[in-house]
Amino acid sequence: MTNRNISFPYCTTFNLDIPPSFVMGGFADSTNPHIPKRDDDYVFRRETLRDILSFLNLPDGDGLYFAGHYGAGKTTLPYQVAARLNWPVQSYTAHSRMEFDDLVGTWKMVNGTMQFLHGPLAIAMREGHLFILNEIDRADPGQLAGLHDVLEGHPLVIATNGGEVIHAHEDFRFIANGNSFGSGDSTGLYQGVNQLDIAFMDRFRVVEVDYPSEEIELMILEKKAPDLPLELREKMVRTANKIRRLFIGKDEAPTPLTITMSTRALCRWAKLSLVYRNAPTSGLAYALNQSLLAKAEPEQRIAIEQIAKDVFGANWQWGQSS
Ligand SMILES: Nc1ncnc2c1ncn2[C@@H]1O[C@H](COP(=O)(O)OP(=O)(O)OP(=O)(O)O)[C@@H](O)[C@H]1O
Ligand SMILES: [Mg+2]
Repeated sequence: MTNRNISFPYCTTFNLDIPPSFVMGGFADSTNPHIPKRDDDYVFRRETLRDILSFLNLPDGDGLYFAGHYGAGKTTLPYQVAARLNWPVQSYTAHSRMEFDDLVGTWKMVNGTMQFLHGPLAIAMREGHLFILNEIDRADPGQLAGLHDVLEGHPLVIATNGGEVIHAHEDFRFIANGNSFGSGDSTGLYQGVNQLDIAFMDRFRVVEVDYPSEEIELMILEKKAPDLPLELREKMVRTANKIRRLFIGKDEAPTPLTITMSTRALCRWAKLSLVYRNAPTSGLAYALNQSLLAKAEPEQRIAIEQIAKDVFGANWQWGQSS
């Protein structure tokens, strides 16, 4: 039986301009320790929110896969949705040495005796939690094959624990995310991304998460760095989008970029600009260096700084004069 016994209106729950008649089922109990911590600065995007809510409402035997470039908001979205619906979460971040048993459970020595400790997948299936598998495309596809049955709605059978059978709770959901779409990394930007089995990917709905629109990123920066003048926040977002267009090859440039400004880096730039506003040289430049440039190749560093200088104009010296 489902535990989802309370309706949350979209408008107040996700801070969206939507009639109060649109509601989403969630849980009355807000005390479960597995409910993620709510980030009140999180800004929901209508499209991706619609996609995750319709999945949570009616998964219809599918998993949900968020794909996109780094720092675009793939991981935080399901956690923040869960935080607002009081939906407990079990999660795991995949890596090349991940084994299926890491998700299901293993025998461990506890206080001198061997005990079977259930893994996050087994707990999520038993208790009706969301299971979030981060960076799924980093895992060995052979290990992921063990998930086929589960994604198809079959019970989890734990052979290593005497054949224990766990039937999926009605509120169990499977969400994964990765930088690729499951067919390997054709860009050469991501180390360790594997090509996933096509039959495995067939079990997912796939949603692309691009960097947010200017409007949304301005709302995010307003929350994260409200003390930064609006004009500077606008110029930061404009700079980020110029960098992104070069990164994806949309704009021609003498120096193609293999690094971009993620929403994560943009937020960092805004916050650090306030910290370094009184730096002896430009606080904006100093913060940009720590946020992004220090990781870039020397020519790309110069190219990115020039983009920022062009966008900011006289404002580039803001850190010194204020
Ligand atoms: N909609 C948003 N509202 C507020 N902050 C956001 C939003 N989207 C992204 N961020 C910020 O960007 C950071 C990166 O987001 P997140 O970790 O979800 O990205 P990701 O796509 O999972 O990245 P990666 O591919 O590197 O794992 C978050 O910690 C948060 O600070
Ligand atoms: Mg992530």
